[in-house]
Amino acid sequence: MAASFITFEGLDGSGKSTHLKRAAEWMRAGGLEVRCTHEPGGTPLGDAIRGLFLDPRWESVEPRVEALLVFASRRQHLHELVEPALRAGVNVLCDRFTDSSLAYQGIGRGLARPWLEELDRLATDGRRPDRTLLFDLPAETARGRGQSPKRRQREGGLDRFDALDLAFYRRVRDGFLDLARDDPERFLIIDSSGDVESTWAQVEVAMGQIVKVRAS
Ligand code: TMP
Repeated sequence: MAASFITFEGLDGSGKSTHLKRAAEWMRAGGLEVRCTHEPGGTPLGDAIRGLFLDPRWESVEPRVEALLVFASRRQHLHELVEPALRAGVNVLCDRFTDSSLAYQGIGRGLARPWLEELDRLATDGRRPDRTLLFDLPAETARGRGQSPKRRQREGGLDRFDALDLAFYRRVRDGFLDLARDDPERFLIIDSSGDVESTWAQVEVAMGQIVKVRAS
């Protein structure tokens, strides 16, 4: 069976990163080879771009510059990691991909969709994930979790996106839901407003629909 490119999307604080790791363990336990990665980043150059992208010192990054940075990281990521892994038959689980750019830079920042689609075509040659899990929850709940002191301590302080207001995150949530509505064959919506275990139960069902693992 061909390797799958599966992306995990949602607001900061939606739980997608925690569940990505668990989904990878679940796949490995089922005998599949998996590579976990993330955007922006996933390569040494991409992680350097990520540092710039999130650095709160750059308060007024022009929205197109923001998009160009994240797509530069994405191109390198596809070239260096994602495409070679898929070619080698390794499944790739990726924390965020182009849907994040359409939601954050498009709906959140107000960049025109055709401009972003053109940039996407140039940077990714139209590469789409095979399936996307969207971790959905109210922006208020995500904000509370995403900025919890414990999480921030672990991750080294507030980043540029943490400073944005609730209205921005509400737009981004709606943007993600619109993307999912437009492409129901690719998206699986996970209600992540509950606790970790109730979210995982949905993720496990979703993963079972996407990949075939060896019965344990
Ligand atoms: P992360 O904390 O989930 O790794 O994401 C870092 C931030 O980068 C998050 O606030 C969302 C933002 N982001 C974009 O704005 N556009 C993108 O295309 C990506 C991949 C991330």
